Amino acid sequence: MKHLFDMLSENRDSGIYPYHMPGHKRRACGKLESGLCGIDITEIDGFDNLHQPEGILLDLQRKAAGLYGAEESFYLVNGSTAGILSAVSAALPQGGHILMARNCHRSAYHAAYLRNLRVSYLYPPVLASYDILDGIQPRQVREALNAEPDIQAVLLVSPTYEGRISEIRAIAEVVHERGIPLIVDEAHGAHLGLAHNLHENSCMAGADLVVHSLHKTLPSLTQTALLHVNGDLIDRGLLRRYLHIYQTSSPSYILMASIDNAMDFMERKRQEAFEAFGKNYSEMLAELSACRHLRILPWERERQDIGKLIVSVKGTGLSGKDLYDILLQKYKLQPEMAAENYVLAMFTVNDSAEGYERMTRALLGIDSAADAEMQNGAARGKGETAEKGMFPQPVCKIPLSEAWDMKTAETLLQECPGRLAGEFVNLYPPGVPLLVPGEEITQEMCSRLADYVSQGLTVQGVCLRDDKMYIRTLMTCQRDMLGT
Ligand SMILES: Cc1ncc(COP(=O)(O)O)c(C=O)c1O
Repeated sequence: MKHLFDMLSENRDSGIYPYHMPGHKRRACGKLESGLCGIDITEIDGFDNLHQPEGILLDLQRKAAGLYGAEESFYLVNGSTAGILSAVSAALPQGGHILMARNCHRSAYHAAYLRNLRVSYLYPPVLASYDILDGIQPRQVREALNAEPDIQAVLLVSPTYEGRISEIRAIAEVVHERGIPLIVDEAHGAHLGLAHNLHENSCMAGADLVVHSLHKTLPSLTQTALLHVNGDLIDRGLLRRYLHIYQTSSPSYILMASIDNAMDFMERKRQEAFEAFGKNYSEMLAELSACRHLRILPWERERQDIGKLIVSVKGTGLSGKDLYDILLQKYKLQPEMAAENYVLAMFTVNDSAEGYERMTRALLGIDSAADAEMQNGAARGKGETAEKGMFPQPVCKIPLSEAWDMKTAETLLQECPGRLAGEFVNLYPPGVPLLVPGEEITQEMCSRLADYVSQGLTVQGVCLRDDKMYIRTLMTCQRDMLGT
């Protein structure tokens, strides 16, 4: 089978003049280089059409399906975001009832809003020793489905942003006992199932719809992703309709060529590439086990994904943001994100030896400096933030699809308790909502938000002005709604 990158280069060198879009006409312009625009085309002869694939793109999608053990796969050029919007829209009717994990990506909430869905939440347990959200348990799904038998689809994230893996095989059984579909946002697990040392992917485990962001954990360009569908619980005509709606009508051939390239690389090299990745990653973790203060979450094939290096600072005298800043400023290492009590650094199959070595040296160095600080007593207070217990579970008073369309006003944080949220409020990254529009704001939530802001964490939905914090609340008769 031909490869898209080769076809694009052949087209560039063919002598054919482009009387078609894009407007750069395959010629350099300002800082837009000819290397890039030379292979940037639209749907011209021989290149098929993503919205009605019959040639090369159909073949490539079938190849991707084969690699992941899916019945059918779709190329996504608008990221997993488009896949989640399409999957949720196709799996439930307008106004339907979805059970979804609270740590779903914002696109899941957007789908619920657009499709007027009633939302029930599954709250992931907290892995307290690291302060991260753990995988969803099959028991939780069973209980939720027993409690609300009109639920029409279940949506989970696995692996999570931090790499926690849920027992999808067991969960799929529970969900299918009800005859309803399971959607797995496996955006962070595009590598799963590709080699023996990796956990199976959710297509193999029985999920009906699975989304993979290739750009997150495989060598592929930003925005590239896949949506897979299995079984007969999903109307595939409807799924295609929503993909047409949510994906651009001008899909980038450079992005599609990147998907092809990643799939081809995986097909040819996956076993050796992931064995080398597993070895390098394990060796780094072994060296880091010498740390006396920083703690590293171990890689466990079944529970914790490879490559998501979680470095806990609890009890070190540092906050997650401190460690992040030291890594970036002193060592010139850019982590993926800082949370209150940990830093997340990502490794993939395409890291260099230098990448492992520099992170190992940096963390060992920071750990021994923490040693000295702890001895002279400078470590108190930080990295040991007050125990906040479970992830907050605010009460929904008005459904998202209604609340997000209502009038809002900016309200001083201290005046928020008792009011209803008018906007999403979340820590970013990873963007798990602390408040969804229509949910009641408590005093505890306000203190939590103030605490996050004072630690320098990015809290989306909280506006800072003149040293005061505001959030948007609904302008309805709040007290009536609350029944107080
Ligand atoms: C769990 C999860 N799902 C979906 C997405 C969306 O993926 P994309 O950026 O490919 O649209 C993200 C992005 O960060 C994510 O973390």
